[in-house]
Amino acid sequence: MRVSAVDVIRAKRDGGRLTDQQIDQVMAGYTAGEMADEQMAALAMAILLRGMDAAETARWTQAMIDSGDRLNLGTAGRALVDKHSTGGVGDKITLPLAPLVAACGAAVPQLSGRGLGHTGGTLDKLESIPGWRAELTEQQIRDQLAEVGAVICAATPTLAPADRKLYALRDVTATVESIPLIASSIMSKKIAEGTDALVLDVKVGSGAFMKTPERARELAESMLAIAAAHGLRASALVTDMSTPLGRTAGNSLEVAEAVEVLHGGGPPDVVELTVALAREMLRLGEVRGPDPAEVLAAGRAYPVWRAMVRAQGGDPDAALPAARHVEPVRAERGGVLAGIDAYPVGVAAWRLGAGRARQGDSVDAAAGVRLLADIGTPVTAGQPLLELHTDRPATLDAARAALAGAITLAEPSTPVERPPLIWQSLGSEK
Ligand code: URA
Repeated sequence: MRVSAVDVIRAKRDGGRLTDQQIDQVMAGYTAGEMADEQMAALAMAILLRGMDAAETARWTQAMIDSGDRLNLGTAGRALVDKHSTGGVGDKITLPLAPLVAACGAAVPQLSGRGLGHTGGTLDKLESIPGWRAELTEQQIRDQLAEVGAVICAATPTLAPADRKLYALRDVTATVESIPLIASSIMSKKIAEGTDALVLDVKVGSGAFMKTPERARELAESMLAIAAAHGLRASALVTDMSTPLGRTAGNSLEVAEAVEVLHGGGPPDVVELTVALAREMLRLGEVRGPDPAEVLAAGRAYPVWRAMVRAQGGDPDAALPAARHVEPVRAERGGVLAGIDAYPVGVAAWRLGAGRARQGDSVDAAAGVRLLADIGTPVTAGQPLLELHTDRPATLDAARAALAGAITLAEPSTPVERPPLIWQSLGSEK
């Protein structure tokens, strides 16, 4: 490394801009093990506190892409379209979305991750299907895209390795919550994957990284600016995560709910968001196919789901793991269910065993929370509102404690509306 790491840290610490050369060399040096973790940690903290402008962020992203290989997933004639969600509680949208968009004519490479903390990971959910495997080679991804049209799998090891190393470091140094670092981390993987178009689902609310619409919009704009700088067609929806998506949070519970949606049923919010994202992916990918709402309602995405699960060794007909202990959480009094706070529900699912505290921990496939009543509906005292699912009864007290204050009851017959699911649509000139 020719530039001095200490000089680069000092420049950012004092509020300066990083030059292209500084960015390229620290990233290359860090990936090669020539820059120490404590130096990159200090630089990440300086970036969190001082920020990076759009040009620095685009270069940072490029340097992370250049740390590994670009995939070549080119699929005979089909547009490659992808979606990324910034994550939330009960966010199982990828599961019905990928087969739906494939059923409408596009090819969907969903390179996904595992969950950390209170948000679940798509791979953890799918791993609850007996036999399903997440790790595929680039050739296997290409073959599956050609044959099935959709693949959800782990990122290949050479896809933006600098990001993998940096994300693990940020996780233990309180430097995850920096908008330029989140935006470059997400976009480096999507650009290196080689998708033709990308739709971003940026979550806002208690269960999301971004707690306010302003921060969510800032993150969306930062990612769209990176996409523009790299010539990638992209748009973003800012969507609600103040309350869990659908009626389940937990791995096998969410797979079962996704299958309901693929059969044309399921919770209305999951259906609405799946269809909105599918329409946007098809529009950006310039795929003129059938309307995703009709395809989903008619169950025509389900055969693609089955083929996708089978292609990765899974048995779509196998029973999903079910928890040995299921306990209700009851309404303390009668009234109208006015709100269910996403964050405590995510923490409860995590404590029941659905999530991991540290990268590399294992998760329980059957653990989680099921919501039994919808916001805006009347409830009676003692009525079960949630179910806690776990194989480890010792976790139930901690889950109940996490849920204290999560449920808001209003006086009987108070009109209550769920917050809008889609807050904003950005970067999607029609
Ligand atoms: N997801 C990522 O891939 N990177 C981040 O920095 C945050 C969420």
